[in-house]
Amino acid sequence: MIRMTNISKIYDNGIVANNNAFIEIFAGEIHALAGENGAGKSTLMKILYGLEKPTSGKIYLNDHEVMITSPLVANSLGIGMVHQHFMLVNELTVAENVFLGKEITKNLMIDYKKMTESVNELAEKFGMSIHPEEIVGNLSIVQKQKVEILKALARKAKILILDEPTAVLTPQETQEFFKQLELLKKQGYTIIIITHKLNEIKQICDRITIMRNGKFIGMYDVKEISEAEISKLMVGRDVIHEIKKTEIEPGAIVLAVNHLTKIVSGGKIVLNNISFSCKQGEIVCLCGVEGNGQRELIDIMTGFDQDYSGNILLNGINIAKKSIKQIRDMGESHIPEDRTLFGVDLSSSIADNLISTSLNDVSNGIFINKKRVEEVSQDGIHSYQIKCEDATQKVNMLSGGNMQKVVVARETKKIPSLLVANQPTRGVDVGAIEFIHKKIINLCHHQTAVLLVSSDLTEVFSLADRILVFYAGNIVANITNVKEITEEELGLYMLGLKRMDEVKYE
Ligand SMILES: Nc1ncnc2c1ncn2[C@@H]1O[C@H](COP(=O)(O)OP(=O)(O)OP(=O)(O)O)[C@@H](O)[C@H]1O
Ligand SMILES: [Mg+2]
Repeated sequence: MIRMTNISKIYDNGIVANNNAFIEIFAGEIHALAGENGAGKSTLMKILYGLEKPTSGKIYLNDHEVMITSPLVANSLGIGMVHQHFMLVNELTVAENVFLGKEITKNLMIDYKKMTESVNELAEKFGMSIHPEEIVGNLSIVQKQKVEILKALARKAKILILDEPTAVLTPQETQEFFKQLELLKKQGYTIIIITHKLNEIKQICDRITIMRNGKFIGMYDVKEISEAEISKLMVGRDVIHEIKKTEIEPGAIVLAVNHLTKIVSGGKIVLNNISFSCKQGEIVCLCGVEGNGQRELIDIMTGFDQDYSGNILLNGINIAKKSIKQIRDMGESHIPEDRTLFGVDLSSSIADNLISTSLNDVSNGIFINKKRVEEVSQDGIHSYQIKCEDATQKVNMLSGGNMQKVVVARETKKIPSLLVANQPTRGVDVGAIEFIHKKIINLCHHQTAVLLVSSDLTEVFSLADRILVFYAGNIVANITNVKEITEEELGLYMLGLKRMDEVKYE
């Protein structure tokens, strides 16, 4: 159905994102596009969607050469795309977003009723539940993703490009999402999916194309290639998939959360009398389906939200009424869940982002020591293999995974007392996951206490010393024998179908 040949893309700043790349997609298949961070996957798909102009190369649709000069042209050819970082207008409703720029009109007026109905019809056809009149800003990530997909479907896309759609989903949500994809496939849709999750490729994809350094490495039948082979082709070496945390005798209590309660307007209790602690060298993992209080807890822990009862002690000192900066100065690091919103300043350089939380280390209080900035940023770039031209490059020009590496590099540069790591490996490639896991374990050997929030169960099982399961604002299980518990059992706790009688937190 689609063939892209000899595609090269050199960005204005000279970065070669695609180098003679090739991809071939069969009608009606689910095709995986894989490769390490910065390999050029998003760029290749943006070219197919008319968002980027290739420096050279040709695109064929059903054997006819096509010039896809804009997303409008792509839409007219039946190609739709859901981006790695969503492109929705938060202030508008679901229906308004779905039909943005393609509003249904009647007598020159926007026919809002018709748009609402159409969204309902579409959603029903593809087995998604969504309220057309809800304001998009109020939606959860899963819901927002549905809006993006509906947007493409409403534009009559028959070929859907999905850039890391599952990076933001929990395992349960991913399975729901895959059901929708299967349904689309049954109805004759063609799907291209970019993902770093090899088990997902094995589960849902028919064929896979692997890229490295902007180049085409190979195309394979998914049935005939193993996960280990895929990762080797991606990064060019063997990757250790599960770095196990070694037993470390926990030290003193670093974090003590006591009777924490958070009630939101309307009286809903989102955190109900939560108590737990985290010790030096210990990794405590907060598990739960999204919306069960984990986010609110992290917001409070990091000083973003100060409206709660109960108290939180960091090395014995109450963090109440302390600002985000004061809490950081007390030794808390934070890898936030949403990198583009809270993790980086997109319009600043890599160097500025890397030093932004430790100005004292690179200045004498008045002047910034440029040499020191250079050292710190080179160190971050090298140790995390951030794929960039140099440290002055703006962060918004980095690939998604490389942006994440900037955040992790900054937050783990100094040894923190407490590391709050919220989805630390979201969107990073298998090689970088290995590196980040080693880094976190290494911090534990230097007495850092780690609070990990992750929806990646492989990550949870390889890193966690203890798992606290959140359900409806309560801790329903404190799992100390992580090695013995199965994914199924953890799932039962997460879904609220099982709880420990008396949860002991220490
Ligand atoms: N707008 C841009 N201007 C300049 N360089 C860019 C731009 N967008 C991407 N790049 C560079 O092009 C290369 C490929 O980026 P791309 O986003 O296609 O990678 P990717 O394979 O999608 O990676 P990831 O898995 O991290 O999302 C990277 O080196 C990136 O820094
Ligand atoms: Mg990408």
